[in-house]
Amino acid sequence: MRRATKHYGGITAIKDVTLDVKPGEFLTLLGPSGSGKTTTMMAVAGFTELSSGEIIIDETRVDQLPPNRRNIGVVFQHLALFPHMSAADNVAFPLRMRGVPNEQVRTRVRRVLELVELPTFGDRLPAQLSGGQQQRVAFARAVVFDPPVLLLDEPLGAMDRKLRESMQAELKRLQRQLGITTIMVTHDQEEALTISDRVAVMNNGEIEQIGAPEDLYENPATPFVADFVGDSNRFVGTARTVAGELCTILTSGAVECMGQVRHVRHAGTTAMVVRPERVLVASEVGDVANRFDGVVEDVTYAGGSIKYVIRISAADTLVARIRNVRHRPRLRVGDAIRVGWKPEDAIVFMPENSGGAHQN
Ligand SMILES: Nc1ncnc2c1ncn2[C@@H]1O[C@H](COP(=O)(O)OP(=O)(O)O)[C@@H](O)[C@H]1O
Ligand SMILES: [Mg+2]
Repeated sequence: MRRATKHYGGITAIKDVTLDVKPGEFLTLLGPSGSGKTTTMMAVAGFTELSSGEIIIDETRVDQLPPNRRNIGVVFQHLALFPHMSAADNVAFPLRMRGVPNEQVRTRVRRVLELVELPTFGDRLPAQLSGGQQQRVAFARAVVFDPPVLLLDEPLGAMDRKLRESMQAELKRLQRQLGITTIMVTHDQEEALTISDRVAVMNNGEIEQIGAPEDLYENPATPFVADFVGDSNRFVGTARTVAGELCTILTSGAVECMGQVRHVRHAGTTAMVVRPERVLVASEVGDVANRFDGVVEDVTYAGGSIKYVIRISAADTLVARIRNVRHRPRLRVGDAIRVGWKPEDAIVFMPENSGGAHQN
């Protein structure tokens, strides 16, 4: 996709989006509702015409072609299975549309139903299938004609957590097996990280950052990405001193803390971000540069981990996620606790041209 823009009247749904998807890659568009994910997918599929920009598949420009000439497989939430057709007829549909001879249709439908592990379900109507089975039939229908590109818009959106997790693994397996270039949309950051080779984070119709899941989580390029991908503590403040890669900020609650500087193009105030699992408590704190006396304000038991909200100033609290291991004493609301984090585990986002900090 090259410099793709789509206006709906006065609304700009996507703005100057440039995106390269590699052959065989599983790329996910992740972003909050209204960030332009579906518009991007609809433009690639050909159901939406771009206001400007280009879409190229292999070496061919396709943005002027009708959807059926683009030869793309789609699983969209609003493109449900045909309710009056059996699973096998649903899967056969794209082949019949393409005038594939009957004999070949039967063979290919059988093969793809085996691929999605529903070889004996061909005769059932969609209503006689579970949600997960319907989704697998939809997937089979999308890949039966060997499209070079597969688009999935919130394909697991309507499923409960357990089913969703097993379908994620299934989807990944099928995609790998077919080697099909895939773009998926989700607003679920955990799903995006789990399933994708790369993730593009969208915000306000633009791609904020694109990278491997680990990249996004460990090196978010903007405060938005840090917030949206994973949980994070965020302190807003003013930059005091910058020394090499390290920067000290003073929070609104008069807490001084240090992290690694990242200059960002976006406007806004200086903010420090720390992941809850990087927060140290009690004896772990040792003599790390950022250490404070805090008070436990809230405790959430989440099974594998326990979340503590710890107040370190009148205006600053910190969430610590601590692995639930037997030897560790449990904290209670009101307990005084030492808390801290290493400067290298914190990112300070400093807007360019902010002028607030002086260089040492
Ligand atoms: N057909 C349409 N007419 C007018 N505005 C639209 C239309 N489709 C999408 N939009 C607007 O474009 C923006 C992006 O929408 P969309 O691509 O559906 O976001 P997402 O899929 O990330 O939730 C939103 O502000 C939405 O209201
Ligand atoms: Mg959408």
